[in-house]
Amino acid sequence: MAEPKPTKDLPQTPNWHRKDLLGIRELEIGEIEMILDTAAAFKTVGARDIKKVPALRGKTMVNFFAEPSTRTRTSFELAAFRLSADVVNISATTSSLQKGETLKDTALNLQALHADIIVLRHSSAGAPKFLADRLNSSIINAGDGAHEHPTQALLDVFTIREHLGKIEGLKVAIVGDILFSRVARSNIWALKKLGAKVTLVGPSTLVPRSFEEMGVTVARHIDDILESADVINLLRIQHERQRKEYFPNLNEYIRFFGLTKARGAKLKPSCLIMHPGPINRGVEIDSDIADGLQSVILAQVTNGLAVRMAVLYLCSTAARKVR
Ligand code: CP
Repeated sequence: MAEPKPTKDLPQTPNWHRKDLLGIRELEIGEIEMILDTAAAFKTVGARDIKKVPALRGKTMVNFFAEPSTRTRTSFELAAFRLSADVVNISATTSSLQKGETLKDTALNLQALHADIIVLRHSSAGAPKFLADRLNSSIINAGDGAHEHPTQALLDVFTIREHLGKIEGLKVAIVGDILFSRVARSNIWALKKLGAKVTLVGPSTLVPRSFEEMGVTVARHIDDILESADVINLLRIQHERQRKEYFPNLNEYIRFFGLTKARGAKLKPSCLIMHPGPINRGVEIDSDIADGLQSVILAQVTNGLAVRMAVLYLCSTAARKVR
Protein backbone atom coordinates (compact mmCIF):
# COMPACT_ATOMS: atom_id res chain seq x y z
CA MET A 1 0.00 0.00 0.00
CA ALA A 2 1.24 3.52 -0.82
CA GLU A 3 2.50 5.58 2.14
CA PRO A 4 0.37 8.57 3.27
CA LYS A 5 1.89 11.82 2.01
CA PRO A 6 2.47 14.83 4.27
CA THR A 7 0.46 17.96 3.50
CA LYS A 8 2.82 20.62 2.13
CA ASP A 9 0.68 23.58 3.22
CA LEU A 10 0.70 22.67 6.94
CA PRO A 11 3.15 24.32 9.33
CA GLN A 12 5.28 21.57 10.94
CA THR A 13 5.40 23.46 14.27
CA PRO A 14 2.15 25.47 14.35
CA ASN A 15 1.92 28.36 16.77
CA TRP A 16 -0.89 26.68 18.71
CA HIS A 17 -0.76 26.19 22.49
CA ARG A 18 -4.00 24.47 23.55
CA LYS A 19 -3.98 20.74 24.18
CA ASP A 20 -7.79 20.87 24.57
CA LEU A 21 -10.64 22.44 22.59
CA LEU A 22 -13.39 23.12 25.12
CA GLY A 23 -15.31 26.03 23.59
CA ILE A 24 -15.21 29.00 21.23
CA ARG A 25 -15.70 31.52 24.03
CA GLU A 26 -12.07 31.31 25.18
CA LEU A 27 -10.50 31.35 21.69
CA GLU A 28 -8.71 34.41 20.30
CA ILE A 29 -9.69 35.55 16.80
CA GLY A 30 -6.25 34.45 15.54
CA GLU A 31 -6.80 30.96 16.94
CA ILE A 32 -10.15 30.63 15.13
CA GLU A 33 -8.50 31.80 11.92
CA MET A 34 -5.64 29.32 12.38
CA ILE A 35 -8.12 26.44 12.70
CA LEU A 36 -9.99 27.61 9.57
CA ASP A 37 -6.77 27.98 7.55
CA THR A 38 -5.48 24.59 8.72
CA ALA A 39 -8.86 23.05 7.79
CA ALA A 40 -8.59 24.58 4.31
CA ALA A 41 -5.22 22.84 3.87
CA PHE A 42 -6.70 19.53 5.08
CA LYS A 43 -9.71 19.86 2.77
CA THR A 44 -7.36 19.36 -0.19
CA VAL A 45 -6.41 15.96 1.28
CA GLY A 46 -10.03 14.81 0.79
CA ALA A 47 -9.72 15.42 -2.95
CA ARG A 48 -6.67 13.14 -3.33
CA ASP A 49 -6.74 9.48 -4.37
CA ILE A 50 -5.07 8.56 -1.08
CA LYS A 51 -6.99 10.55 1.53
CA LYS A 52 -4.44 10.11 4.33
CA VAL A 53 -1.58 12.07 5.87
CA PRO A 54 0.82 10.74 8.54
CA ALA A 55 0.33 13.66 10.99
CA LEU A 56 -1.06 11.53 13.88
CA ARG A 57 0.60 8.21 13.10
CA GLY A 58 1.12 6.27 16.35
CA LYS A 59 -1.50 8.34 18.24
CA THR A 60 -4.71 6.92 19.70
CA MET A 61 -8.03 8.77 19.74
CA VAL A 62 -10.99 7.64 21.84
CA ASN A 63 -14.36 8.79 20.53
CA PHE A 64 -16.43 8.84 23.74
CA PHE A 65 -20.07 9.68 22.98
CA ALA A 66 -22.38 9.56 26.01
CA GLU A 67 -25.20 11.07 23.86
CA PRO A 68 -26.40 10.05 20.37
CA SER A 69 -24.64 11.43 17.27
CA THR A 70 -24.39 10.72 13.56
CA ARG A 71 -22.39 13.59 12.04
CA THR A 72 -19.98 14.53 14.82
CA ARG A 73 -19.00 11.02 15.86
CA THR A 74 -18.53 9.80 12.30
CA SER A 75 -16.56 12.81 11.15
CA PHE A 76 -14.22 12.72 14.17
CA GLU A 77 -13.61 9.05 13.42
CA LEU A 78 -12.95 9.71 9.73
CA ALA A 79 -10.78 12.71 10.59
CA ALA A 80 -8.61 10.55 12.85
CA PHE A 81 -8.33 7.83 10.17
CA ARG A 82 -7.24 10.43 7.61
CA LEU A 83 -4.55 11.63 10.02
CA SER A 84 -3.37 7.99 10.41
CA ALA A 85 -4.38 7.78 14.11
CA ASP A 86 -5.81 4.65 15.72
CA VAL A 87 -9.44 5.04 16.83
CA VAL A 88 -11.60 3.44 19.51
CA ASN A 89 -15.32 4.23 19.82
CA ILE A 90 -17.18 3.93 23.12
CA SER A 91 -20.65 5.01 24.13
CA ALA A 92 -22.50 5.44 27.43
CA THR A 93 -24.49 2.25 26.84
CA THR A 94 -21.44 0.09 26.05
CA SER A 95 -19.10 1.52 28.72
CA SER A 96 -18.87 0.87 32.46
CA LEU A 97 -20.69 4.17 33.09
CA GLN A 98 -23.69 1.80 33.00
CA LYS A 99 -22.26 -0.02 36.05
CA GLY A 100 -21.85 3.12 38.11
CA GLU A 101 -18.27 4.08 37.18
CA THR A 102 -17.77 7.85 37.26
CA LEU A 103 -16.83 9.84 34.16
CA LYS A 104 -13.51 10.74 35.82
CA ASP A 105 -12.64 7.09 36.53
CA THR A 106 -13.62 6.03 33.00
CA ALA A 107 -11.41 8.78 31.56
CA LEU A 108 -8.47 7.96 33.88
CA ASN A 109 -8.68 4.36 32.65
CA LEU A 110 -8.65 5.56 29.03
CA GLN A 111 -5.57 7.65 29.83
CA ALA A 112 -3.94 4.60 31.49
CA LEU A 113 -4.46 2.85 28.14
CA HIS A 114 -2.46 5.71 26.55
CA ALA A 115 -5.33 7.52 24.84
CA ASP A 116 -3.67 10.64 23.40
CA ILE A 117 -6.96 12.33 22.50
CA ILE A 118 -10.43 11.91 24.04
CA VAL A 119 -13.33 13.36 22.05
CA LEU A 120 -16.24 13.73 24.47
CA ARG A 121 -19.94 14.33 23.96
CA HIS A 122 -21.84 14.51 27.23
CA SER A 123 -25.19 15.78 28.50
CA SER A 124 -23.55 17.78 31.31
CA ALA A 125 -22.22 21.25 30.53
CA GLY A 126 -18.60 21.41 31.70
CA ALA A 127 -17.85 17.66 31.46
CA PRO A 128 -15.00 18.19 28.90
CA LYS A 129 -13.41 20.91 31.09
CA PHE A 130 -13.68 18.62 34.12
CA LEU A 131 -11.59 16.03 32.28
CA ALA A 132 -9.20 18.55 30.69
CA ASP A 133 -8.28 19.86 34.17
CA ARG A 134 -7.41 16.35 35.37
CA LEU A 135 -5.92 14.45 32.41
CA ASN A 136 -2.82 14.81 30.23
CA SER A 137 -4.78 13.52 27.20
CA SER A 138 -6.12 16.16 24.80
CA ILE A 139 -9.83 16.66 25.44
CA ILE A 140 -12.01 17.79 22.53
CA ASN A 141 -15.56 18.94 23.29
CA ALA A 142 -17.99 17.28 20.86
CA GLY A 143 -21.00 18.95 22.56
CA ASP A 144 -21.64 19.38 26.30
CA GLY A 145 -25.22 19.92 27.43
CA ALA A 146 -26.52 23.30 26.28
CA HIS A 147 -23.05 24.85 26.75
CA GLU A 148 -20.89 24.60 23.59
CA HIS A 149 -20.34 22.58 20.42
CA PRO A 150 -17.15 24.24 19.20
CA THR A 151 -16.36 22.12 16.14
CA GLN A 152 -19.93 22.69 14.84
CA ALA A 153 -19.44 26.47 15.02
CA LEU A 154 -16.02 26.18 13.37
CA LEU A 155 -17.41 24.15 10.47
CA ASP A 156 -20.28 26.62 10.18
CA VAL A 157 -18.01 29.68 9.88
CA PHE A 158 -15.68 27.71 7.57
CA THR A 159 -18.67 27.01 5.28
CA ILE A 160 -19.82 30.64 5.33
CA ARG A 161 -16.30 31.88 4.55
CA GLU A 162 -15.94 29.31 1.75
CA HIS A 163 -19.23 30.33 0.09
CA LEU A 164 -19.36 34.08 0.75
CA GLY A 165 -15.63 34.87 1.05
CA LYS A 166 -15.84 36.56 4.46
CA ILE A 167 -17.64 36.68 7.80
CA GLU A 168 -17.15 40.33 8.79
CA GLY A 169 -20.24 42.49 8.25
CA LEU A 170 -22.52 39.60 7.23
CA LYS A 171 -26.06 39.48 8.64
CA VAL A 172 -26.53 36.04 10.16
CA ALA A 173 -29.88 34.94 11.62
CA ILE A 174 -30.03 31.95 13.97
CA VAL A 175 -33.61 30.73 14.19
CA GLY A 176 -35.36 28.52 16.71
CA ASP A 177 -34.48 26.91 20.01
CA ILE A 178 -31.57 29.07 21.12
CA LEU A 179 -31.99 28.58 24.88
CA PHE A 180 -31.24 24.85 24.84
CA SER A 181 -28.76 24.93 21.95
CA ARG A 182 -25.00 24.47 22.37
CA VAL A 183 -24.71 25.04 18.60
CA ALA A 184 -26.26 28.50 18.99
CA ARG A 185 -23.93 29.52 21.81
CA SER A 186 -20.78 28.41 19.98
CA ASN A 187 -22.01 30.05 16.77
CA ILE A 188 -22.72 33.34 18.52
CA TRP A 189 -19.19 33.43 19.99
CA ALA A 190 -17.55 32.55 16.66
CA LEU A 191 -19.63 34.87 14.51
CA LYS A 192 -19.31 37.84 16.87
CA LYS A 193 -15.53 37.40 17.19
CA LEU A 194 -15.24 37.32 13.38
CA GLY A 195 -17.35 40.49 12.97
CA ALA A 196 -20.78 39.22 11.83
CA LYS A 197 -24.06 40.90 12.83
CA VAL A 198 -26.09 38.21 14.57
CA THR A 199 -29.87 38.18 15.04
CA LEU A 200 -31.56 35.47 17.10
CA VAL A 201 -35.12 34.63 16.05
CA GLY A 202 -37.60 32.77 18.22
CA PRO A 203 -40.33 33.01 20.85
CA SER A 204 -39.48 34.73 24.13
CA THR A 205 -39.48 31.34 25.88
CA LEU A 206 -36.67 30.05 23.65
CA VAL A 207 -34.87 33.35 22.96
CA PRO A 208 -34.90 35.40 26.17
CA ARG A 209 -33.74 39.02 25.93
CA SER A 210 -30.76 38.15 28.14
CA PHE A 211 -29.00 36.89 24.98
CA GLU A 212 -28.63 40.56 23.98
CA GLU A 213 -25.77 40.71 26.51
CA MET A 214 -23.77 38.62 24.00
CA GLY A 215 -23.96 41.50 21.50
CA VAL A 216 -26.77 40.10 19.33
CA THR A 217 -30.20 41.44 18.40
CA VAL A 218 -33.43 39.52 18.97
CA ALA A 219 -36.40 39.20 16.57
CA ARG A 220 -39.71 37.53 17.34
CA HIS A 221 -40.80 36.60 13.80
CA ILE A 222 -38.81 34.94 10.99
CA ASP A 223 -40.48 37.31 8.48
CA ASP A 224 -38.54 40.19 10.07
CA ILE A 225 -35.18 38.89 8.76
CA LEU A 226 -35.98 37.12 5.48
CA GLU A 227 -35.13 39.93 3.05
CA SER A 228 -31.95 41.16 4.75
CA ALA A 229 -30.22 37.94 5.89
CA ASP A 230 -26.96 36.80 4.27
CA VAL A 231 -27.14 33.52 6.18
CA ILE A 232 -30.01 31.75 7.95
CA ASN A 233 -29.02 29.00 10.38
CA LEU A 234 -32.04 26.94 11.47
CA LEU A 235 -32.02 24.93 14.67
CA ARG A 236 -33.94 21.86 15.74
CA ILE A 237 -36.18 21.99 18.81
CA GLN A 238 -34.02 20.29 21.47
CA HIS A 239 -36.80 18.20 23.03
CA GLU A 240 -34.20 16.13 24.93
CA ARG A 241 -33.12 19.17 26.95
CA GLN A 242 -36.58 20.71 27.50
CA ARG A 243 -38.60 19.71 30.52
CA LYS A 244 -41.80 20.91 28.80
CA GLU A 245 -42.71 22.44 25.45
CA TYR A 246 -41.68 26.08 25.31
CA PHE A 247 -44.28 26.98 22.64
CA PRO A 248 -48.00 26.07 22.31
CA ASN A 249 -47.61 23.36 19.63
CA LEU A 250 -45.64 22.47 16.50
CA ASN A 251 -48.18 24.08 14.13
CA GLU A 252 -47.84 27.36 16.01
CA TYR A 253 -44.04 27.06 15.83
CA ILE A 254 -44.12 26.43 12.06
CA ARG A 255 -46.51 29.38 11.56
CA PHE A 256 -44.07 31.86 13.14
CA PHE A 257 -40.62 30.31 12.68
CA GLY A 258 -40.64 27.57 10.01
CA LEU A 259 -38.66 28.28 6.81
CA THR A 260 -41.42 27.33 4.38
CA LYS A 261 -41.20 27.40 0.58
CA ALA A 262 -43.17 30.69 0.51
CA ARG A 263 -40.74 32.28 2.95
CA GLY A 264 -37.77 30.89 1.01
CA ALA A 265 -38.94 32.85 -2.05
CA LYS A 266 -38.36 36.11 -0.14
CA LEU A 267 -34.66 35.41 0.57
CA LYS A 268 -31.81 37.07 -1.31
CA PRO A 269 -30.57 34.63 -4.00
CA SER A 270 -27.15 34.68 -2.32
CA CYS A 271 -28.52 33.89 1.17
CA LEU A 272 -27.09 30.64 2.54
CA ILE A 273 -29.41 28.23 4.32
CA MET A 274 -27.69 26.24 7.05
CA HIS A 275 -28.67 23.63 9.61
CA PRO A 276 -26.40 21.65 11.96
CA GLY A 277 -28.61 18.56 11.63
CA PRO A 278 -30.41 16.40 12.32
CA ILE A 279 -33.16 18.27 10.41
CA ASN A 280 -36.87 17.88 11.09
CA ARG A 281 -38.38 18.28 7.61
CA GLY A 282 -41.67 20.16 7.67
CA VAL A 283 -40.95 21.68 11.10
CA GLU A 284 -38.05 24.15 11.13
CA ILE A 285 -37.42 23.68 7.39
CA ASP A 286 -39.45 22.53 4.37
CA SER A 287 -37.96 19.78 2.19
CA ASP A 288 -37.92 22.09 -0.85
CA ILE A 289 -35.66 24.49 1.05
CA ALA A 290 -33.47 21.82 2.69
CA ASP A 291 -32.76 20.25 -0.71
CA GLY A 292 -32.74 23.54 -2.68
CA LEU A 293 -29.90 25.43 -4.36
CA GLN A 294 -29.31 27.80 -1.45
CA SER A 295 -28.92 25.00 1.08
CA VAL A 296 -25.34 24.25 2.21
CA ILE A 297 -26.42 21.68 4.81
CA LEU A 298 -24.43 18.81 3.30
CA ALA A 299 -21.46 21.10 2.53
CA GLN A 300 -21.39 21.78 6.29
CA VAL A 301 -21.07 18.04 6.94
CA THR A 302 -18.25 17.68 4.40
CA ASN A 303 -16.41 20.67 5.89
CA GLY A 304 -16.78 19.19 9.37
CA LEU A 305 -14.29 16.51 8.40
CA ALA A 306 -11.56 19.03 7.45
CA VAL A 307 -12.28 21.18 10.50
CA ARG A 308 -12.02 18.19 12.84
CA MET A 309 -8.77 17.09 11.19
CA ALA A 310 -7.43 20.60 11.89
CA VAL A 311 -8.54 20.53 15.54
CA LEU A 312 -7.08 17.05 16.17
CA TYR A 313 -3.81 18.02 14.47
CA LEU A 314 -3.38 21.34 16.31
CA CYS A 315 -4.35 20.09 19.79
CA SER A 316 -2.18 16.98 19.57
CA THR A 317 0.78 19.13 18.47
CA ALA A 318 0.28 21.34 21.55
CA ALA A 319 -0.12 18.26 23.81
CA ARG A 320 3.30 17.03 22.61
CA LYS A 321 4.82 20.37 23.71
CA VAL A 322 3.36 20.25 27.27
CA ARG A 323 4.03 16.54 28.09
N1 CP B 1 -24.71 18.60 14.37
C1 CP B 1 -24.56 17.55 15.20
O1 CP B 1 -23.97 17.65 16.28
O2 CP B 1 -25.08 16.39 14.71
P1 CP B 1 -24.96 14.97 15.47
O3 CP B 1 -25.78 15.07 16.71
O4 CP B 1 -25.48 13.96 14.48
O5 CP B 1 -23.51 14.76 15.80
